[in-house]
Amino acid sequence: MKRKKQPEAIKRREFLQTSARYTAGAILMGLGTSELFGTTNSHRSGTSIETVTLNNGLEMPILGFGTLYLTEELGVRCVADAISLGYRLIDTAKVYNNEESVGGGIKQSGINREELFVTSKIWVDDYGYESGKKAFQTSLDKLGLDYLDLYLIHRPRGDVKGAWKAMEELYKEGRIKAIGVSNFEDHHLDELLSYATVKPAVNQIETHAFFVQEKARKSLEKYGIQHEAWSPLAQGRNGHFTNKTLAEIGKKYNRTNAQVSLRWHYQRGIVAIPRSSQKAHMQENLNIFDFELDENDMKTIAALDLNITQFPEWE
Ligand SMILES: NC(=O)c1ccc[n+]([C@@H]2O[C@H](COP(=O)([O-])OP(=O)(O)OC[C@H]3O[C@@H](n4cnc5c(N)ncnc54)[C@H](OP(=O)(O)O)[C@@H]3O)[C@@H](O)[C@H]2O)c1
Repeated sequence: MKRKKQPEAIKRREFLQTSARYTAGAILMGLGTSELFGTTNSHRSGTSIETVTLNNGLEMPILGFGTLYLTEELGVRCVADAISLGYRLIDTAKVYNNEESVGGGIKQSGINREELFVTSKIWVDDYGYESGKKAFQTSLDKLGLDYLDLYLIHRPRGDVKGAWKAMEELYKEGRIKAIGVSNFEDHHLDELLSYATVKPAVNQIETHAFFVQEKARKSLEKYGIQHEAWSPLAQGRNGHFTNKTLAEIGKKYNRTNAQVSLRWHYQRGIVAIPRSSQKAHMQENLNIFDFELDENDMKTIAALDLNITQFPEWE
């Protein structure tokens, strides 16, 4: 994975509201890099997405592609499209039942494996030491890969301790570049840290304009664990895409509600993984690196917080 310092990124950093573990690094992708963070709205293949540096030194793109519900042929097509547009972080999970499709999309894209950052997650049924190791190999086989960049404990239930031990071993063997968790609260993290020999690199949690998670963001910063947002667009729930406050802000910058939300995540230093089945939306979601929300915009968006999950059915 090639990396290079970007002076533009450093300039932007001064403006970022929170940037504790932010890096000025960028993953350089595909062809040229001259139009990094250009002033046009087009984010073409060959441009780059900034990275954050995880607590083990691994670089992770700050914007990636989610694949929940993108199964079978749809999944293959969407993953290949996303990669062709410039996405390099692809997020899947055993329980999405689409690891084969994600692998198919990666293969179809023709990209070099080292240019990608692939995340999968172990599901609750497979927690435990032996079963954890087996589940990892099954995920790899389905994806058609020989290592994962990030492997997460999907939910804090069951034999997390056994699963973590298996993941630590796989990490130490170099078969996973970073290991982490998802949907963990502080008390879950504290429990895991009481026996872990490897600190989680990432916690992927629900985060969007209606569930801002500022307390969790600050807490994760203290733990030295990267905050990653799932459902960064709230799946469109609660009228996200027609929300007047987001639209008013977007009007100032000629941006959509989705772009305003994704820019807001970015300026908070949070990795976001929006999903889309439409190439136009995928492209739109990448076009967030050439405008800046001001402090007032950031506060106005934060004030949309309902401070409660918008996915009670998953609790
Ligand atoms: N760890 C966990 O427990 C967990 C839980 C949930 C999700 N996740 C991960 O997080 C990823 C993202 O979350 P999500 O898939 O739940 O929801 P999301 O990314 O917040 O929203 C996806 C929805 O937004 C629409 N959309 C995307 N871009 C748009 C745009 N520019 N304009 C208008 N509509 C747009 C998509 O429709 P179109 O297809 O029509 O564009 C889709 O219906 C998942 O795919 C998954 O990888 C993890």
